[in-house]
Amino acid sequence: MPPKSTPRQLAFRRRLTRWFRREGRDLPWRRTRDPYHVLVSEVMLQQTQVARVTDFYARFLARFPTLEELALAEQHEVHTLWQGLGYYRRATNLHRLAQVVVAEHAGRLPSEPERLLALPGVGRYTAGAVATFAFERATPAVDTNVGRVIRRAFHPRATGARGERRIWATAQLLQPRAGLPAWTFNQAIMELGALICTARVARCEVCPVRSACATGGRR
Ligand code: ADE
Repeated sequence: MPPKSTPRQLAFRRRLTRWFRREGRDLPWRRTRDPYHVLVSEVMLQQTQVARVTDFYARFLARFPTLEELALAEQHEVHTLWQGLGYYRRATNLHRLAQVVVAEHAGRLPSEPERLLALPGVGRYTAGAVATFAFERATPAVDTNVGRVIRRAFHPRATGARGERRIWATAQLLQPRAGLPAWTFNQAIMELGALICTARVARCEVCPVRSACATGGRR
């Protein structure tokens, strides 16, 4: 049996989800469950701000609306569309990934994080993000923002590789059942890290989960 969630974890999840339904931003990649579109958004968002990604995402998908079309493209055209986003390795990997998925998975991205992880350029975060945001799996996706939120809320002294493991374990325990609740929770924790519990300042005075937080609850 997996360990059960604590009352504080349950309160955190409930409050956060309710807040997101009210305050979450309407972003283009939150309107789709197309796994390829979700993947493109997540790869772009890894090193680039939301406001900047929005334009590039639309332009990229207008030219390459499907994985098959990306797979058939010339690399220079993929790179041209990526101009302005930087970190071109992301584009190279995405292009290779499209070719691998067409050749080996009949053009369909797998839904299991373990199989996503085997694809070019896909790390643990991206595998989790595609599994939850495209397939509504109850799978954590811990990027810098989500890691910071969980550290502050549950493991304020966590550091190093051991801290990282504890953060992922708590992210797993926080997952609701699969389906829309899992999708919503994972978007919500990301949104909290982007809008409220930011790296520069934690805006605890307006935080929906302050009462369930090990850091803000004591301020
Ligand atoms: N950063 C990474 N993934 C994101 C998402 N789905 N929404 C907003 N920001 C993100």
